[in-house]
Order: sequence, then structure tokens, then C-alpha cells
Amino acid sequence: MRLDKFLAEAGLGSRKEVKKILKTGTVTINGQREKSDKRQVDPTTDVIKWQGEPLHYQEFYYYVLNKPAGVISATEDKRDRTVMDLLAADDFRSDLFPVGRLDKDTEGLLLLTNDGKLAHELLAPKKHVEKEYYAKVNGVMTVTDVKTFEKGITLDGEKTRPAQLMIEAVDEQQQTSIVRIVLHEGKFHQVKRMVKACGKEVAYLKRIRMGQLQLPADLALGAYRQVTPVELRQLQG
Ligand code: URA
Repeated sequence: MRLDKFLAEAGLGSRKEVKKILKTGTVTINGQREKSDKRQVDPTTDVIKWQGEPLHYQEFYYYVLNKPAGVISATEDKRDRTVMDLLAADDFRSDLFPVGRLDKDTEGLLLLTNDGKLAHELLAPKKHVEKEYYAKVNGVMTVTDVKTFEKGITLDGEKTRPAQLMIEAVDEQQQTSIVRIVLHEGKFHQVKRMVKACGKEVAYLKRIRMGQLQLPADLALGAYRQVTPVELRQLQG
């Protein structure tokens, strides 16, 4: 790969900034000063240093975020704050994007990455990657609803895949329920529409799992951290 790409990926700055840095003669490859941005390097064998410090190249970044309500699952928005605005300046990269979408008022697990291939693997309808949600519902969910979810529900002429509805608690007096729902696809507002099709309403929604990746219990709302190597392997299946 070209030296300027390596240096930019290693976090030294944009390609333009890197070019300027190179001119100052502070970059060495295997101990030799190098000023050309076009020089080809092999990140696996060449030792590349800036001001004497070894640089490491990382192609892909993976963050797990506990999305709070009120922010949009997009890379930019004219009106609202996006999940990208939650990243610290040091972690922000313009090629990061959220893997799939959660509604503005939905909380919970959202993966941010620049790995398009993994994102595709996780989102492709054919892969049926499970997404699990925790929901508070206005209305009492019943065994009939469990069966309805299992059969699939036709939403605007499109039938959903069988989904699992688990009733955790019901408050007959308040007429509310706590449920967990597992989907094998990701249609627009899917949980809310499936619950509505049963005559009830989602009052609060949080994603707690995607594939084998659980929302970390110690991750505060709005906080994020790097995905661990073990979690990454789980995501890659
Ligand atoms: N289903 C919904 O209705 N909303 C979400 O944000 C995710 C799944």
C-alpha cells in the first residue's frame, strides 16, 4: 500500500496533512528517512516510525454503542444529533457508519464500523441474523400474540418471518407488559408494527442483542467501547 494511505490509516492525519508531515523528514521506514507519499510499503514487514515512534496500521474499527433516545442512526443529519456525534474526536473517522438503524426513540445496541463486508453479513436478509429487543408495552400481551408472532404477521402486504415473543411480566392493573422479542430480519419499525398488529403499543424499546453480540451490561446510555476480539469473532459467526 502507499505510504500516505498507511500514515493516514495509522491516524497521523488526512492524506493532505500526511504529505506535509512527510516533507518534514520525520518518517522513517526500516530506519531510513522517507519523504515520498507514493512509496509502497508492506505494513506486515516494514517498520514505519514517526518521530521515532512505531506506527500501527488498523484497517477496520468496530465499536459497540449503547444508543440513547433522541439521536439518529445515521452518519449525518441536518436537524438532529447522530450517533457519530457521540464519538470522541480521537475515535471519529469519516468512514465509520452504523450497522443498520434504530429508531430515534429506540435505545440499545448499535454497532459502528468501517467494515462494509461485516455490515453486509449482519444485515443481508438471507443471513437471518437475530436481533433481540426488550420492550415495555401498553396493553397485555397474550399467548395468542406469541402464536401470532410465531406465524408471521402481514405488515403493509409483506409477511414477516416467524419471530419469537417472550412475555416476561404482565401488570393486569396497569394494563402493561414487559416482553422480549427476537427478529430474524429488520423491516422498518418492525417491532412497533408487529406489536401494533396485536392491538397494543410499544412504549419503550431497547435492542439488547445482535447475532451473538450482547449489549454489554456495563455500557451506560450514550457510551461506547471497542468490540473485543472475542466479540468480533462472535459477530463474524
Ligand atoms: N423495531 C422498531 O420498531 N424500531 C426499532 O428501532 C428497531 C426495531
